Amino acid sequence: MKQSIRVTVNGEEHASEVEPRTLLVTYLREQLDLTGTHIGCDTGQCGACTVMLDGQPVKSCMVLAVQADGARVGTVEGLATNGKYHPIQDAFWEKHGLQCGFCTPGMMMAAVGLLERNPNPSDAEIREQLEGNLCRCTGYQNIVAAVRSAAEAMRAGEAQPVAASGAAGAAGAAGGEEA
Ligand code: FES
Ligand code: FES
Repeated sequence: MKQSIRVTVNGEEHASEVEPRTLLVTYLREQLDLTGTHIGCDTGQCGACTVMLDGQPVKSCMVLAVQADGARVGTVEGLATNGKYHPIQDAFWEKHGLQCGFCTPGMMMAAVGLLERNPNPSDAEIREQLEGNLCRCTGYQNIVAAVRSAAEAMRAGEAQPVAASGAAGAAGAAGGEEA
């Protein structure tokens, strides 16, 4: 039997009916058409499905949609605001932090989770934060450089907090294309 949930996703409230077994990632992709959140493994190992849940990055294949009832969810589609990319998106572009881009939405959401609680992380802290996010085609060096660069830009005041806002923003963000 389906259950009713209300979830605020990227600043917009959704009232939905879901099966109790529906995963948050499936809900986002199939019911809300937010396909920027990717499914790589479906078993909590790759991090491609990482989203913000009440200000914390989580692997959305490990969370049931019903567990997000009443919560604020931020996805990659909500990173850009007012037609302007979030600094983490600009930084991945400028530092060549991606190749195929499949891992990129999850990488960026995990990175934002770090940068909103630690505005000036060391490379070791960046690597520790991203250890649950796997990339099959870049070296991790440029990803770390991108997160460091985004940290500088965010310290300079170039972004609204995603955690606080539930990632309110425009669709079509970098790395948020359909897959
Ligand atoms: Fe969720 Fe891989 S799809 S961790
Ligand atoms: Fe291809 Fe990371 S850029 S998996």
